Amino acid sequence: MMRTRLTALLGIKYPIIQGGMAWTSDATLAVAVSNGGGAGIIAAGGRTSEWVRDEIKKAKGITDKPFGVNITLLAPNATEIVDIVCEEKVAFVTLGAGNPVPHIPKLQAAGVKVIPVVPNVKLADRIEKAGADAMIIEGMEGGGHIGTQTTMALMSNVLAVQHSIPVIVAGGISDGRAMAAALLMGADGVQVGSRFILTTECPTHPAAKEAILKATDTDSEVTGFSRGSAVRSLRNDFTEEFLALERAGAPQEELNKLATGTNRMGSVEGDIKRGVVQVGQSLNVLKDILPCKEVIERMISEAKATLAKAKDIEL
Ligand SMILES: Cc1cc2nc3c(=O)[nH]c(=O)nc-3n(C[C@H](O)[C@H](O)[C@H](O)COP(=O)(O)O)c2cc1C
Repeated sequence: MMRTRLTALLGIKYPIIQGGMAWTSDATLAVAVSNGGGAGIIAAGGRTSEWVRDEIKKAKGITDKPFGVNITLLAPNATEIVDIVCEEKVAFVTLGAGNPVPHIPKLQAAGVKVIPVVPNVKLADRIEKAGADAMIIEGMEGGGHIGTQTTMALMSNVLAVQHSIPVIVAGGISDGRAMAAALLMGADGVQVGSRFILTTECPTHPAAKEAILKATDTDSEVTGFSRGSAVRSLRNDFTEEFLALERAGAPQEELNKLATGTNRMGSVEGDIKRGVVQVGQSLNVLKDILPCKEVIERMISEAKATLAKAKDIEL
């Protein structure tokens, strides 16, 4: 047990959320995290509305613990998924890529807690004023779509003032020491993505898991930065080709064509050369594949040990 405003908001044992991960976090992974004492999330990004409804029903059938759904708001079926989440009365949603504000009243009226993912202070303030239940500040160390601010700068800037809602920190948190650092900075909890890929319950292709296990600190790459749509993933043939085109000023349509379907290729088909293997920068500590429950328990015991050790620091 570790009590924070986040554990109180969601009714969970530990202040750990598993980040929504497109083509990666399904009902099986989300339930494993929720049953392990954190909060799991089914990622709707790139999926059909039917798939999302089926996964929600599947999750409900195997756990009575709270879990969430991550909605990519720029997806063509985003409004439909908002409706499904309301009908199914999912405990909470995390909202990224798009403006979450118009969706807040409807979701909350259905009893769904709303947790937008924000990349800077301005948006953090805006969604707090709009009545969000909590916020996730996500630094550019993380895997997947990223903003321009680091986790440390976001923590420094956002957590400098007391917020009326819980603040969850994401990006580069792969172990309990990093979790403890976020809590010491004033966070109410952490969102973890990459670490949960290396779990027995995560459906990601074994070849992609193996590539992540082998990777070290400088092995990730950011594509799309110059176009305002940056994605962090493992460096491979795809990222090299994409970056060469990006640097050469290739038209956006050509880049879009090259990138289409690559998340699926990496995560589901295990094409680690031509597909995208999204992952964060805290790679050296990702050394084993474990059940989610063990990942969570280890993270909590490391965080507790780190916080206990902090008491001995004399300045
Ligand atoms: C494979 C993968 C897919 C992701 N897909 C999404 C997504 O669909 N929606 C979203 O809001 N964030 C997405 N993210 C970001 C995660 O939810 C989380 O914030 C991030 O992984 C945290 O950084 P970490 O990987 O260093 O733990 C993704 C991350 C990864 C690694």
